[in-house]
Amino acid sequence: MAEHEMHDFDVVVIGAGGAGLRAAIEAKARGLRTALVCKSLLGKAHTVMAEGGAAAALGNVWPEDNWRVHFRDTMRGGKLLNNWRMAELHAQEAPDRIYELEAWGALFDRTKDGRILQRDFGGHRYARLAHVGDRTGLELIRTLQQRAVTMGIEVFMECKILRLVKRADGVVSGAVGYWRATGEPVSFSARAFVLATGGIGRSWKYSTNSWESTGDGHALALWAGADLIDMECMQFHPTGMVWPLSVRGLLVTEGVRGDGGVLRNSEGRRFMFDYIPAMFEAETADSEAEADRWYEDHANNRRPPELLPRDEVARSINAEVKAGRGSPHDGVYLDIASRHDAEYIRRRLPSMYHQFMELAGVDITTDPMEVGPTCHYIMGGIRVDADSAATTVPGLFAAGEVAGGLHGANRLGGNSLSDLLVFGRRAGMGAADFAEGRPTAPDVDAGEVQRVMAEATAPLRRKEGESPYDIQHDLQEMMHRLVGIIRSESELLEALGKLNTLTERTAAMAVSGGVVYNPGWNLATDLPSMLAVSTIVAKGALERRESRGGHTREDYPGSDTDLGGVNLVQRLDEHGELVLVPATLPPMPAHLAALLSEEAQ
Ligand code: FUM
Repeated sequence: MAEHEMHDFDVVVIGAGGAGLRAAIEAKARGLRTALVCKSLLGKAHTVMAEGGAAAALGNVWPEDNWRVHFRDTMRGGKLLNNWRMAELHAQEAPDRIYELEAWGALFDRTKDGRILQRDFGGHRYARLAHVGDRTGLELIRTLQQRAVTMGIEVFMECKILRLVKRADGVVSGAVGYWRATGEPVSFSARAFVLATGGIGRSWKYSTNSWESTGDGHALALWAGADLIDMECMQFHPTGMVWPLSVRGLLVTEGVRGDGGVLRNSEGRRFMFDYIPAMFEAETADSEAEADRWYEDHANNRRPPELLPRDEVARSINAEVKAGRGSPHDGVYLDIASRHDAEYIRRRLPSMYHQFMELAGVDITTDPMEVGPTCHYIMGGIRVDADSAATTVPGLFAAGEVAGGLHGANRLGGNSLSDLLVFGRRAGMGAADFAEGRPTAPDVDAGEVQRVMAEATAPLRRKEGESPYDIQHDLQEMMHRLVGIIRSESELLEALGKLNTLTERTAAMAVSGGVVYNPGWNLATDLPSMLAVSTIVAKGALERRESRGGHTREDYPGSDTDLGGVNLVQRLDEHGELVLVPATLPPMPAHLAALLSEEAQ
């Protein structure tokens, strides 16, 4: 049997964005031999696309804020589909995680008296986002990365993991992958694994996600026997660039609206006043004058409608464009120029200023931006235990975007950075608890490595077949058209048919060249997870016959009380067939249920 490169650790974390880094730091702090494996370069992760801030009830700007209000906001934003225990832990622990990050060197913007400044974001009752201009994710990842490297965590970059391996007793004990640069196989054995691979947004045409977000962790977990929940709940961020076409989908941070930016249609109207849902009526301003007073006095005024949760804003923009009141490139206008002077805009939103100036030739200190919804985040994900981040497969843990539950049907902006800090740490703890006292994991069997690599390299051995780029292109077009912001039964059925065909086409694709530095082959190894996960999203979307958060059905426009209490679980059965089973949410304890009313705060 051919030899291959092998490594052995106590804990292996797959994915090196914020959640992976934070998990590895925790396991390493417990004295465990810890490795971090990522398919990209360290520091390059979707974490940087959470630009506007990390939500935590520090109470620095509004002393009225506390974890209870944050819990309530998160649950209501998620349309109550959230795992309430995760929402409780998240709201309670986020402040400590922010202060910890500060102690590790993160340079947050400051209040006049030197405390961490907090900005407004959609769905948050108080200004609650700790931030560094509009580069918060970057600062967070830079800080964690520095800490991880200083602690001596071993980092394996540009390494694509293809499969997890289980022992006879069902415990995950290994991972098989290859080096993207050389194509050579590599295996890792460990007593516990953490998945922190982020999201799936590359399967849509317009997306804030870069090439890494191909659902690898979701698929690895699925193939290892884990449960996925509520995968139909996708977030379309309301504001991505729409022009020029080459950068369509690039994020325009919610920080623009958090700092007072307003949305207007082609008639110049602040149209969000026309779309205030009943659930948020009591707390949303119904006139421009009241909306503008919000920034001075949160206690006595109601939030501007531009700061409704993301699902509401994205749908409203979609409706304006459909009604013919959009901008020239099928977006709407986001105006900060008429709200603040140029110095303020450049100081608070330096990346947005440069992004629009350099990519679109638009000076946002004088002109409005053209923006529209873009695929940003998946709320659904691997089913985990709230306290330990354990998946339903022993030895396997998950945190960050790849894990489901915390955000319910819709995530509030800013809650992802605090999510990955809180649950990254908990996954590191959970994996360390599991690993301690267990025997060293066996080496990954060479035959298994050969089998996995033979499957991965099959396209290189075919003389004829389709290019993976064509398949990826068709997948992205199709998901955008049929599994986008607004869905319907007929479109979802069509999508599932097309996903079948795309899967068949993938099984017959061909790639020229060898395994060394071959991006076409690298994409070919991403396609199986992109297709498996897209199929699960479409199946969930077909089954959830209601509209809730990031999942909107044209044919079921209202929410269904019964479905509101149900997670849609998908897994592979013993024959390898995908099955979908509804699972009733556990009842919320009375002390948390009492927090859901405004009066309780
Ligand atoms: O708009 C933003 O800055 C994104 C933040 C987030 O997704 O949490």
